[in-house]
Amino acid sequence: MSAGNSELQNQLKKAAATKAADYVKDGMIIGLGSGSTVRMLVDELGRRVQEENLQFTGVSTSISTAEQARSLGIKIVDLDAVNAIDLTIDGADQVDRNFNGIKGGGGNLLWEKIVAVNSKKLIWVVDESKVVNQIGAFPLAVDVEPFGSGHILKQFSNAGFNPVVRIGNDGQLFKTDSNNIILDLHLHKIDDPGKLAETLTNIVGVIEHGLFLGMVNEVVVGKQAGPEILV
Ligand code: 5RP
Repeated sequence: MSAGNSELQNQLKKAAATKAADYVKDGMIIGLGSGSTVRMLVDELGRRVQEENLQFTGVSTSISTAEQARSLGIKIVDLDAVNAIDLTIDGADQVDRNFNGIKGGGGNLLWEKIVAVNSKKLIWVVDESKVVNQIGAFPLAVDVEPFGSGHILKQFSNAGFNPVVRIGNDGQLFKTDSNNIILDLHLHKIDDPGKLAETLTNIVGVIEHGLFLGMVNEVVVGKQAGPEILV
C-alpha cells in the first residue's frame, strides 16, 4: 500500500526528509523509519556519511531500511545493542493537529512502534497532503498473528471495520518482517482514536495497530512554500 507518489508529493517528501536530516549529529543513535520518505532521508544521510564524514549509529525499523542504510555506509545495530535511541525519524500516512497519526502503509508498524517507544524524541517527515483535520481516510493497518486470523477478520467485519487482507506487490499474501499478516481497516474516518486503539489492543491475536497517538514530538511537513515544523 502506498500513500501516493505524484511528482509533487515526492518533491515535498524529499524537502521534508532533507530538512529532517539536519537533526542528525555526530555521535547520535538514530532510529531510522521505513517508507519512501525515509528512503530519501537515508539517501541524504548516506551522502553526508560519505562526503562530510558524519558519524552516527542507526537502528532500523525494517529489513529494507537496514539494507539501504548499510549499502550507503551507515552503521546499523540491533535495538537491543543500545540503551536508548536519541532520535527517531520516520514517515507517516496521516497526522492530525493533536498528533494522532496513522502508520503502517508499508507494513512496518510493529517495529516502528517498538523503536518509537524506545526513543527520546520522535520526528515524522510527511508531505502536506498527510496533515489532516481527522485521521481515518487512509486505511488503518493492523498487524495480526496468522494463526486463527480468519476469526479476527470476521470480528472486524462484524464491528463494521471493513477489513481487507493485505496482498503484496508480488500478488502473494503480504508478510511483515516478523512474518505476520496485515489487515487494513477501511474506516474512512476515526471519531475516537483512543477508544479504537483500546478496542484493537484488547483483541487476542492482534499484535499491534497503526494508531500512533500523541507519540510524535515534531512533524516536518514538506509544503510548496518550504518545509514547516509542527511542534
Ligand atoms: C511504513 C510506514 C511509512 O512510514 C508510511 O507508510 C509512510 O510511507 P511513505 O513515506 O512511503 O509515504 O508507516 O509502515
